Amino acid sequence: MQKIGLQLIFMVIIFMVACTHEPSETVEPGPGDNNGGDSGDTTQVAGCDPDTVYFKNDILPLLQSSCGTMGCHDAGTATEGIILTDYENIINTGDVEPFDAESSDIYEVITETDTDKRMPPPPNNPLSQEQITMVATWINQGALNNSCESDCDTTDVTYASMVAPVFENFCLGCHDQATANGGVVLETYDQRATLANSGALHGVINGTNGYPLMPPSNGLPECEIAILEKWISDGAPNN
Ligand code: HEC
Repeated sequence: MQKIGLQLIFMVIIFMVACTHEPSETVEPGPGDNNGGDSGDTTQVAGCDPDTVYFKNDILPLLQSSCGTMGCHDAGTATEGIILTDYENIINTGDVEPFDAESSDIYEVITETDTDKRMPPPPNNPLSQEQITMVATWINQGALNNSCESDCDTTDVTYASMVAPVFENFCLGCHDQATANGGVVLETYDQRATLANSGALHGVINGTNGYPLMPPSNGLPECEIAILEKWISDGAPNN
């Protein structure tokens, strides 16, 4: 019973921190933490190792868009940015134990089967098994503040292999049936292709032609923009 209480408190804290953008207390890294709260400790490598999960490439966008599902989208917060944009707060407010996903609160709440305690809470969908595995892998690899620079090869852009994952990891959290921010749902190929062919997708990923920049505040990384642009100029095929 006490555990339930603690989890509720944790969820409320995440909510408040994520939605109000208040500076949160910095928790000193424990003795076991290899790189705990040191956000300057960024390891960037050229070339992405397919077996490594990278914080900046994989985890941050996922958490940003999942936080978007938590009702953090009043005008102020969406444009100002979300506290989950930074490594230190994710480590601290998510109670991440490097190398130990099972002991990390953030992992516990995303895998919670009781929907009253699960994050993101209903009516939002839970994270997919793939996304959950990605979070677990990142933590078990040390929860590093790492990133990689992919070659960004856009010669063979296909919808299934390259475009769909961008929508899933960078947009869906805020634009599924349940969240539908701005009235926009991006779950199916048809919905995505319609957006591409209308010119709106080009507008939002560049923040041009009067469209708000998407994802709000930071936009997409360069390579993801290049992938979507290539797909748009190909006529948004379902390949
Ligand atoms: C963190 C939440 C969040 C993420 C992630 C996000 N959006 Fe949005 N989106 C919003 C909100 C909030 C609005 C409505 C407010 C606005 O128009 O500024 C919106 C509006 C839109 C609109 C309507 C714009 C208009 O005014 O016509 C489109 C199109 C859109 N998003 C596409 C995307 C795409 C594509 C992605 C992924 C690349 C994405 N969004 C990622 C929150 C998000």
